[in-house]
Order: sequence, then C-alpha cells, then structure tokens
Amino acid sequence: MSPGKVTVAQLRQMKGRQKIAALTAYDFAMAQLLDACGVPLLLVGDSLGMVVLGHPDTTHVTMEEMIHHVRAAARAKPNALLVADLPFRSYETPAQAVANAMRFVEAGADAVKAEGGRAILESVRAIIAAGIPFLGHLGMLPQQVLEEGGYHIKGKIEVEHAGLLADAAALCDAGAFAIVLELVTPPVARELTQRVSVPTIGIGSGPDCDGQILVTTDLLGTSPGRIPKHAQPANLAEAIRTTVTAWKAAL
Ligand code: KIV
Repeated sequence: MSPGKVTVAQLRQMKGRQKIAALTAYDFAMAQLLDACGVPLLLVGDSLGMVVLGHPDTTHVTMEEMIHHVRAAARAKPNALLVADLPFRSYETPAQAVANAMRFVEAGADAVKAEGGRAILESVRAIIAAGIPFLGHLGMLPQQVLEEGGYHIKGKIEVEHAGLLADAAALCDAGAFAIVLELVTPPVARELTQRVSVPTIGIGSGPDCDGQILVTTDLLGTSPGRIPKHAQPANLAEAIRTTVTAWKAAL
C-alpha cells in the first residue's frame, strides 16, 4: 500500500475532527484529477448509469458495466479510498453480495457500498465477514426509484425518522465504516450524525453531516439532466461549448 493511501481507520477518525469530502469518479482521468485535489474518498457510483451511460435511472446498471469503470478508476492508483457501488439486484443474498463485492476488490476497489439498512443486513454482515470494508447508504435510495415513483426526501414523518435511526444503528453494529445519507431532512441527518459512532456523509441532507458527497458532474455542471439544488454547480458545460465553438470557428 502506498504511504499516502487513505485507510478506513483514518476516515473513521475524521468524524468530529475534519469534514470528509467525497466525490464520484468513473474513469482514470477523473480519479487522477480528484485524487490530486486530496479528496479522501472516491466513489465509482452507479449514478454513472445516468451521467455516463444515458440511462433514465440507476436500475439499468450491470455488474459488468460497474467493473469496467472500477478498473478504469483504479488504474489511477488513487491515495483516496476507492469505493465501488453494488448495482441494483447485485446483493440480494449474502452469497451473491460477497461474490460481487469480491469482483470489485479484484477490479481494484478498496471498499463497497450498497443501499439499505436492516433490509440488507445479512448481505452487509457477509461482505464485512469476508474482510471487505462496507459503506452504508440510507435515506432516499435511488435503486428504489421505480418502486417509490420518484426521489423523495426522507425523515419527514415519524415512521421514517424511527426507521432511519434503526437502520443506522444496525449498519454501525454490523461494522459499516461510514454511512451516506441521501436526501434526509437536515434535522434528522444532524440527529443521526450525533447518534452514530461512524461518519455520516451527506448528499442533499444539510450541513451537519460529518462529510459531503456529490456526483462530480453535478458539481462541475456537466451532468446531462437536471442538476440537484444541493450541488451549486460550476458551469463547465458552458466552458466546453465556448471552447469547442471557438475552435470550430477558427478552423
Ligand atoms: O451512485 C452514486 O453516485 C451515489 C452517490 C450519490 C452517493 O450513490
């Protein structure tokens, strides 16, 4: 391991001391660039289904597609912890979850992420028992978009609030090293952050999480679809249009 490599233990120690910055990286070039910025956690997220592959949501992404992108990002040999996102229906049983998590590790990932809490606990426990670090993901779960009929903020009603607390506690007890909180109401995200011993990494969940994660193309302003409010994007799409138009005109 390179001396500068970020470890799961270091990330855990950042809780309460230093905000954790995390971004998605789907290829060699972006992983290298973001790593050079000192971002400690890079996620090969299944959001690549939308922002790279042109699908309407993440439910179309396959293990083969994810492995292709994990390999590309891993070739950058980032100091950042490289986390790979288990896609839709790739962790339905503990055996399937471990087999797919192992494929990611063979492709160069340092850890894996999957969506859900108590509902996927047996798979989470099996992944961790196999020695693979696990990043949790609670709140709005994009892989459930078809079942839920859209992307909804979580934690507004008591049953969701209680469910999030129970899910976060279960993931912690199982040994997750951190938990992504997506579109959780800010007061509930703050409460979860105070209650759990591992870092929370928010996306659209307010300022009080231990860290923040964004889809990198949302941050840069190059995502093909609507960019979420929480991203406050740069406008690199406009910079690309201006540069290409000027180059074309000067031929
Ligand atoms: O797939 C992804 O990019 C994610 C982040 C938004 C957390 O899961």
